[in-house]
This record gives sequence, C-alpha cells and structure tokens, in this order.
Amino acid sequence: MIGRRKRFYTIHPLINTMNIRQRVQALKEERNAVILAHNYCSNEVQDIADHTGDSLGLSIKASEVDEPVIVFCGVTFMAESAKILNPDKKVIIPEEDAVCPMANMCTGAQLDELRSREPGVKIIGYVNTSAESKARMDICCTSANAVKVVESMAGGDLLFVPDRNLGRHAASEAGVEMRLWDGFCPTHQAITLGMVEDLKQEHPDAVVMAHPECRPEVLEASDHIGSTSQMLDFAHGSEAKEFIVLTEQGLLHPLRSNNPLKTFYTPEAALCPVMKMTDIRSVLRALEEMGPEVVLDEDTIDRARGPLERMIALR
Ligand code: 13P
Ligand code: SF4
Repeated sequence: MIGRRKRFYTIHPLINTMNIRQRVQALKEERNAVILAHNYCSNEVQDIADHTGDSLGLSIKASEVDEPVIVFCGVTFMAESAKILNPDKKVIIPEEDAVCPMANMCTGAQLDELRSREPGVKIIGYVNTSAESKARMDICCTSANAVKVVESMAGGDLLFVPDRNLGRHAASEAGVEMRLWDGFCPTHQAITLGMVEDLKQEHPDAVVMAHPECRPEVLEASDHIGSTSQMLDFAHGSEAKEFIVLTEQGLLHPLRSNNPLKTFYTPEAALCPVMKMTDIRSVLRALEEMGPEVVLDEDTIDRARGPLERMIALR
C-alpha cells in the first residue's frame, strides 16, 4: 500500500531533460537519496539511476545502500520489497499507480482462503505480488532464483503463485512436482510462438533469449532462459553477434549500451505499460515532494520479511 500524497505539478513542461537531470542530481544529494531502477524502466530513468538491475538484484541492493532514502523506479511490488527489507528507510515510488497486473492476480485474501481449506500447503510465491500476499507465503522467489527456491522446497504439497509460466519452467528444471496458480504477465503472454518464428526467419543467426514469464512454447523455442540481469550477463559473455530478446523492450537499453558491437531484436508487443509510467519528471517530482512513500503496516512487514529473507539466502 502506498501512502497517497497530494501532487503539485511544479515542473514547467519547457524545462528540458538536461536541466531536469541536473535538478535530480542536486536534489538527490540534498535529500541523501539513492535511485534504484529496474532494467525495464525507460532509458532516461535507467540513465539517472545509481543502480539498475533485476528484481533480485535490486532487493539485495536496497539492503546494501547507506542512504536513508530510496527512490524506487519500477512497479509497486518492487518498492514494497525494498521497504519490507529496510523498514527504517524511507522508500519512495515516483508513480504509485504503477502496479504490476500479475500482482493483482493473487491476493492476500485468496491465499488466506486457500490456507484455511488446505492447511498443509506450502506456498512458493513469485515476488511479483503485493506485500499482503508475501506475508502469506512460505518462501518468495524471483525469476533469477526460482529453480533453486523450488529445489529447496522439494517434497511437500507445493503451490506456486501467481505466474503459471515461471512456475511450470521452475518445476520442470528442478524436477519437482507442484501445483500452479493461474496467473501470468500480460506483456510476456503477448509474445507468441508465431512472432518468435518470424524473428528467427528474419535473423537466422540470432541466439534467442527469453524471460521465464513467456509462454511454454516460446520458452521451448529459446536458447537461453533467465531473469533480465541473467540475460544481460549471457549476452555479454556470448560470442554471438545477434540476439532475439523475448522480454520487455526496456532491456534493450542496457543490452545495447553494454554490447555496442552486437545487435538485439525484440517483438514490438513486448511493452509493459506500468513499467513505462515512471519518467524523469516523476523522479524529480518525487524528490521534490519526498513522496509518494511506501507505507506498510508493521504486521505485514514482519510477516513478509521471512519469505523474502529466505529467498535472498538462496540467491
Ligand atoms: P526480473 O526479475 O527478471 O528483472 O523481472 C521482473 C519482471 O517484472 C519481469 O516481468
Ligand atoms: Fe508485471 Fe509483466 Fe510488467 Fe513485469 S513485465 S512488471 S510481470 S506486467
């Protein structure tokens, strides 16, 4: 839950990006703040961030930084995770309505209802969920460590929430049986096998990298499956010169900056509207107003910290 604050649009539209960047830098120092941005954020937001990364990397980074204020550019579940792991810090999310639609597919109330029906179930939950849902899980995972987390839970009556595609992939890689919640990411679900085949036909030498949120048939057609940061590492270490990238287009920015001699293609459909809500103006406004702040009740923080910390221990 994000603390709502009244917004004052103090930024004149004609103030140019260069000026805004300078103002963000100055204000960031004045406020003793650090800016974290997910790999899907717009190019300009990634460029003003102190640290970029995938969900796992940013959760860990949030616990490592010294600054008492974290401006989290991404979606609400990521900023909430930063708050849960750092309850004494002020965590600000520039766009409080940037809610991942998959996170809404599995609520705390649904998990309460499930646990009352099936008290023995062990719930493995993707971090793309609200703090209220995390508080009801046994362990969390990200796309970077889902296989390891599922392996660590082998043996019980397991349920994976909410992403059926990531759950299916992790279960098959880990060789573990588990039930899957019927959630999905609309952005990755929009990438079809037909799109992948068209791209392969246009670029026959390209290596195909996919995020595990993609459909099973798309994952089967891929050469490498990993989180956003794992794809960055893979592309950097690979001898290949061309890559088809089956994830949100924001990843093209670090891929291209880190590998100027390599070429990357992605399907046009791979766009996440909530990840694109945050722009450099919202970051400046957040620093000016010191909000919207992530506000979670103590009980939720206490209950959600365990599943997140168990996940980080398995990184
Ligand atoms: P990563 O953890 O791989 O960065 O992915 C987050 C996400 O929202 C994928 O859609
Ligand atoms: Fe959520 Fe999908 Fe956007 Fe990731 S890409 S934030 S899972 S909607």
